Amino acid sequence: MNKTLLLGLVTLMNVSPVMANRLANEPIKPIQPFIITEPDKVELGKKLFFDPRLSRSGFISCNSCHNLSMGGSDNLPTSIGHNWQQGPINSPTVLNSSMNLAQFWDGRAADLQEQAAGPIANPMEMAFSHSLAIDVLRSIPQYVAEFNKIYGSDDITLDQVTNAIAVFEETLVTPNSRFDLWLNGNDNALTDTEIAGYQKFKQIGCVACHNGEAVGGSSFQRMGIMEPYQTDNPAEGRIAVTGKDADRFSFKVPTLRNVELTYPYFHDGAYWKLEDAVDVMARLQLGQQLEEQDIKNITAFLKTLTGDQPQFAIPQLPPSTPNTPIPVPFEN
Ligand code: HEC
Ligand code: HEC
Repeated sequence: MNKTLLLGLVTLMNVSPVMANRLANEPIKPIQPFIITEPDKVELGKKLFFDPRLSRSGFISCNSCHNLSMGGSDNLPTSIGHNWQQGPINSPTVLNSSMNLAQFWDGRAADLQEQAAGPIANPMEMAFSHSLAIDVLRSIPQYVAEFNKIYGSDDITLDQVTNAIAVFEETLVTPNSRFDLWLNGNDNALTDTEIAGYQKFKQIGCVACHNGEAVGGSSFQRMGIMEPYQTDNPAEGRIAVTGKDADRFSFKVPTLRNVELTYPYFHDGAYWKLEDAVDVMARLQLGQQLEEQDIKNITAFLKTLTGDQPQFAIPQLPPSTPNTPIPVPFEN
């Protein structure tokens, strides 16, 4: 059989030998595009994600700290919350967050719906009470109609709000990164430098913690295994949830998907350069002092994990009415 014919057949079968091998053998798996089955809920959740009226100031939305134009993060060491308060910890990306084994750095929320109730009522974030946030939505007839159409009840509840937000967040996956194209059998998707970086990433053991679809997000691990991590940030990680001493300074392993967009790095946001984060990880987690060239190669590989960013029209939010509680942007 000639080569073209063979290639044609293989394409017809939609799986090349290289592709089948990589998909089966590599510790990182490609992200599948999300197929929307509840479009109305997604649209409602999108509005809520962008609506600053869920905050006391009327100014801070989920998107303020998880900016979907900036990799789903705020690119600040720690976030700015209500009344310009300094947040306690770095804002993780919301992209691909549905793949996490739990939400938050210490995993204190089981899933996206449980998580979404947190920031609205957090005095340092959106600083609202849940009932006031619901009052805002109840005062806007277009929201009332939309909730009614989707949830079939005359009232708006917190459960519905967090459900819609979570369903929207599930759509925020980033398929088709160059690395995924390579996993799917496209040899030209990566340069030699990037492949060398990936080989090193596997060889020295980064994949022990950063693996699977999200290249992270699947376990809690101690930060600073071979050497302690120096930081002024008081966060102690997973021990806050389990109370177990063994979990002190253990954090959810962050996803490395889109990591080139989600600087600065680590739970304290102390490192702005990806190269430096790679160097810290190799020394603290693996006891390896990497050569300059290896750091460059691994960094080049990590940048191939940037996938398609969410694409949609900016949601148009229904206007407030005379019954809508007035926002409090400045505290006396
Ligand atoms: C003032 C900034 C701020 C606002 C507003 C905010 N967040 Fe966050 N978000 C954070 C920070 C900081 C964390 C990490 C907190 C922690 O782990 O203790 C976080 C964590 C998360 C996580 C967990 C991600 C992960 O990998 O663990 C999700 C999901 C999330 N936020 C979604 C939302 C949604 C939905 C809203 C709106 C209802 C919202 N956030 C509003 C700053 C913010
Ligand atoms: C033992 C588990 C483990 C190993 C091995 C490991 N990491 Fe990590 N990685 C983590 C944890 C936990 C964090 C979060 C630490 C923190 O923020 O305090 C992290 C964070 C990171 C971050 C920052 C991501 C962000 O969004 O803040 C990068 C980049 C990273 N790792 C790359 C690597 C590389 C490259 C290697 C190999 C040299 C590696 N990691 C090896 C567990 C690990």
